[in-house]
Amino acid sequence: DFTVSVVLPAAGSGERTGLPTPKQFCTFLNRPLISFTIETFERIPWIKSIVVVVAKESRDPMLQIVQQFCHTKVKVVEGGTTRHRSIFSGLQAFIESSEGPELPKPKVVIIHDAVRPFVDEEFLLKITLAAKEQGASGAIRPLVSTVIATTSEGFLDHSLERTKYRASEMPQGFLYDVIYQAYQRCSEFDFEFGTECLHLALQYSGTSAKLIEGPPTLWKVTYKRDLAAAESIIKESLS
Ligand code: CTP
Ligand code: MG
Repeated sequence: DFTVSVVLPAAGSGERTGLPTPKQFCTFLNRPLISFTIETFERIPWIKSIVVVVAKESRDPMLQIVQQFCHTKVKVVEGGTTRHRSIFSGLQAFIESSEGPELPKPKVVIIHDAVRPFVDEEFLLKITLAAKEQGASGAIRPLVSTVIATTSEGFLDHSLERTKYRASEMPQGFLYDVIYQAYQRCSEFDFEFGTECLHLALQYSGTSAKLIEGPPTLWKVTYKRDLAAAESIIKESLS
């Protein structure tokens, strides 16, 4: 038995875009960004189900999107105030279910941001197989900028050697039991301020995490200019 399912956190408000609509619901060609991301997973036959985690007020609009674009593998659940809380809600949908039928617990779960629409099947397979072997896996990219530490007075403290570090991206893959246990054991502080699922898995489940360099198309829509870039990629791919 080797089932693979997906959790798509989409409960953020997208403050950095400066737009009133959360970026995952911005539409291109009359279709919301999140629907393009979901479609990629829908089309992959070895992916069984997709849990989409949204804010309370987006529940009904999301259910409408699911219906309108015929996303048959999707279950919509309510997220939390931080990304980690949202992801944990998504993971819980596989074992306890307040709404609708319970989903079978997968062997491997892929966590992917709803706002990274251009992930491809080949890379998802790499992440999935590495997670199955190692317990956890994640996408990395070379750093664009040098990372520096600053003093509280705003002076340079030290800089990191750029070639030794990588940017952590999405998707990440986990044995379901590994990531679920990590979230069960982690602290309120982790839920509030942690940013890295792989880190939680390492710290609280003692797994190893295989890092795989991904294509530049894994980039995350963060600012308004990223929405414009996503739109032009989508238009190009459809023309
Ligand atoms: N996310 C979530 N629940 C939260 C916060 C974020 O599910 N409480 C999701 C976002 O919807 C997004 C992904 O996590 O798909 C990556 O987060 P980010 O890019 O930071 O999105 P936002 O938090 O929405 O944007 P911002 O930080 O600019 O407000
Ligand atoms: Mg955020």
